[in-house]
Amino acid sequence: MQELSALNERLVAIKKEIEEGSANLENSRAVYEYKKNVMDGKSGLIGSLMKGMKDIPKESRGDYGKLVNELKTWAQALFDELDVALKAKEMDAKYASEKIDITMPAEENVSGNLHPITQMRNQLIDIFASMGFDVFEGTEIENDYYNFTALNTPADHPARDMQDTFYLSPEFLLRTQTSAGQIHVMEAQKPPIKIVSPGKVFRSDDDATHSPMFTQLEGLVVDKGITLCDLKGMLDLFVQRIFGEEVKTRLRPSYFPFTEPSVEVDCSCFSCGGTGCKLCKGTGWIEVLGAGVVNKKVLENCGIDSDEYSGFAFGIGIERAAMLKYGINNIKHLFESDLRVLSQLNDND
Ligand code: PHE
Repeated sequence: MQELSALNERLVAIKKEIEEGSANLENSRAVYEYKKNVMDGKSGLIGSLMKGMKDIPKESRGDYGKLVNELKTWAQALFDELDVALKAKEMDAKYASEKIDITMPAEENVSGNLHPITQMRNQLIDIFASMGFDVFEGTEIENDYYNFTALNTPADHPARDMQDTFYLSPEFLLRTQTSAGQIHVMEAQKPPIKIVSPGKVFRSDDDATHSPMFTQLEGLVVDKGITLCDLKGMLDLFVQRIFGEEVKTRLRPSYFPFTEPSVEVDCSCFSCGGTGCKLCKGTGWIEVLGAGVVNKKVLENCGIDSDEYSGFAFGIGIERAAMLKYGINNIKHLFESDLRVLSQLNDND
């Protein structure tokens, strides 16, 4: 019996120690660690009590075990309670830290847009690609032969004056027209040919509607039996796609050394529908591109039999198309990188 009264005293002391020890625990993890220590079979305050069992006389062992078990149950309940309380506190803290104020104004998501020239170029390529055209990328530096001579514009030809050229050397120049690409394509490829070729071109020219560097998209179709009617049909479809369903085209006689006949292509004004407005300068028509039937001499220069094959070509000024489409009155807006202007010109929204 002596052992039991000594045990009772121990149990009171252990309870006190556990109460004090657990009073300072700050989180559920600490409760878990503390409980593990207390219950530990070797060194734990409660765990080690069982080890003392062997020193207890047989007749007292039952009572001893009961007391120790009661203490265990008591401690377990204490830890459970603490665990629940601390976990609740932790959840509260977590919720508080993750709280979202749904009335807070959202951060503005500023995203850029493609440059209007790029948008227009992509739209043109999409339209022509859907008609089966391949894309050919030419080079900005050309030699005199590809930019002029092969395009039926020999050195003394007056048409050279139409395009004031930046020469890099007597032989090399900055291409004045993407038409130079026609020659590369026809030299490399036998008909049927159906390509568009977008790219920068350069001319010593500078006013409200002209820039020394601008962008063109060339088109070339060569096959058996191609006529001006094929060009007209394709252009009708093209202007409808780019400017609107109701837009029509008309051809006016023009001159380019590399096409015969040559035409200037107008489309009916998509702003007023043809009755006359500021955009079409009261005429009802807007000039959109130059085109024509490929001159036989150009085909022959590229080794293509002009009796067997014929073709048409066209050249679109991409800045001009963008200015018409977006209602821009000065080409400088397209080159000044002013975001106040450029961000308004977005077809991708
Ligand atoms: N290269 C001509 C220009 O820059 C446009 C054009 C291309 C005309 C193809 C006819 C055929 O003015």
